[in-house]
Amino acid sequence: MKRFFLTVAILFVALISTTSLSARELHVVPEPAYVDLEAEGEYVVTEKTRIIVVDDLWAPAARFTEDMMSYYGSDKPMRTSKHGNKGIKVRLDRFVPAEGYEMTVSEEGVLIIGGTEAGVYYGLQTLRQIIVTNDGKVPYGYIADEPTFEYRGAHLDVSRHFFSVEDVKRYIDILAAHKLNRLHWHLTDDQGWRIEIKAYPELTEKGSMRSETLIGHGLNPEFWDGKPYGGYYTQDEIRDVVAYAAARYITVIPEIEMPGHSQAALHALPWLGCNEQEVDVWTMWGVTPEVLCAGKETTYEFLENVLSEVIELFPSELIHIGGDECPKDRWKECEHCQAMMQSMGLEHEEELQGYLVARIEKYLISKGRRMIGWDEILDGGVTETATVMSWRGISGGIYAAERGNDVVMTPMSLCYFNFYQTESRKGEGLHIGGHIPFEKVYAWNPYEGMSDEAREHIIGVQCNMWSEYIKDMDTIEVMLLPRLGAMAEVQWAEDRRDESTIRQKMETMRKFYDACGWNYAPYYFEGRQ
Ligand code: ACM
Ligand code: ZN
Repeated sequence: MKRFFLTVAILFVALISTTSLSARELHVVPEPAYVDLEAEGEYVVTEKTRIIVVDDLWAPAARFTEDMMSYYGSDKPMRTSKHGNKGIKVRLDRFVPAEGYEMTVSEEGVLIIGGTEAGVYYGLQTLRQIIVTNDGKVPYGYIADEPTFEYRGAHLDVSRHFFSVEDVKRYIDILAAHKLNRLHWHLTDDQGWRIEIKAYPELTEKGSMRSETLIGHGLNPEFWDGKPYGGYYTQDEIRDVVAYAAARYITVIPEIEMPGHSQAALHALPWLGCNEQEVDVWTMWGVTPEVLCAGKETTYEFLENVLSEVIELFPSELIHIGGDECPKDRWKECEHCQAMMQSMGLEHEEELQGYLVARIEKYLISKGRRMIGWDEILDGGVTETATVMSWRGISGGIYAAERGNDVVMTPMSLCYFNFYQTESRKGEGLHIGGHIPFEKVYAWNPYEGMSDEAREHIIGVQCNMWSEYIKDMDTIEVMLLPRLGAMAEVQWAEDRRDESTIRQKMETMRKFYDACGWNYAPYYFEGRQ
């Protein structure tokens, strides 16, 4: 009988503690590594709460107060100072992981200790989510957090449709709130060259404008709108975006496409082509046979001159050179390309692409940078130092990782956020195709099919936003959210995802999106896949 009472007592205590715990579950996306909340008590943050800054952490503290402006409806919320007793205190500690943080919440306030400035920033992002979604009430307890992947990226195509500096900054804000740290900026393609290059003003004077844009789907081209379309960023605007991203601990990786996806450059500078043919800035979607000539020295000189300006503008160690979808039709008939192949002892045109990529990589290394490219850079034989972005599935990434190359996983079937979000496509408007619901992203194992050695070379994961069918920022946001919530869980919290809690967490995240004024797709919240 005694035993019976004991069992009942234990069950009772267990029941009480689970109930109170579940009432105090933290809903943060992406999931922190370790959370231990006290049974009760909360520190209430208001716009009057002071931020106490130690270790000169003024920059992340300033970003935080800026982020809180719209929430408090004030342009000067939360004073920052060096001293104070109660409030939100930020400091550094070298024993905390580089991008990690520890957060302790007690009646004294909130203490955030970061391994670096970025770690403090991520701690403040966690705090921001809690404040915004829980009326400023931050439960007493302790959080320790750090990311799974060092590379947490999102891509943005500004060639097919152009997005203003303000749009790109808004995109960066959304990435930062999800703790991403790379923006892969797809700046050049067949349909528009979008970055000012001082050595070749024609690239933007001529190459940034197309005569018209396709209406309807590219698989069935019938109608065009007859309206000239274009836009580009000046070098000052590029610097502005790079600095804005850096202030949010995001590195911008520029992509300059070569040798394919270059028809806009060929329009501006016809001597870049095999037979100097006149071509337009492309008004179709897909893959054009018009590519840079890989046989002429002038092409290499051009690419190095462009990259030298790009390197000056972008501090990123990784520079993306594209490398994808380059048909070899023109090269097969080009005397320069054939002569280059002969003099280099190359048998196939694929190897000529390998030669071009290797030569460009050498140039980047000579400038203290490293090359990243789409997985086609594997086709012509890749060097050991290139980083590979696996998009045509996962096998290219696995192959490269097994060889010891660094890899970013971004397979099309899981990471192309320009794909539809529902099977029925009802209400989604026209998009390129495919089907990637939130649940599919969340359940993704980016290490699938890999040996332990290969896993070590997966530096990160990325989602891609191709803009053939996305014309404005509102639509970008709807394609990005809430799927970026799932992607951030894979990137930051790969080892701690939990199917049983994600829906509730995303309901809370939805409140956060509403408070930030970001558009998001309704389908996941409606239970539509
Ligand atoms: C790609 O989607 N062509 C990288
Ligand atoms: Zn050629």
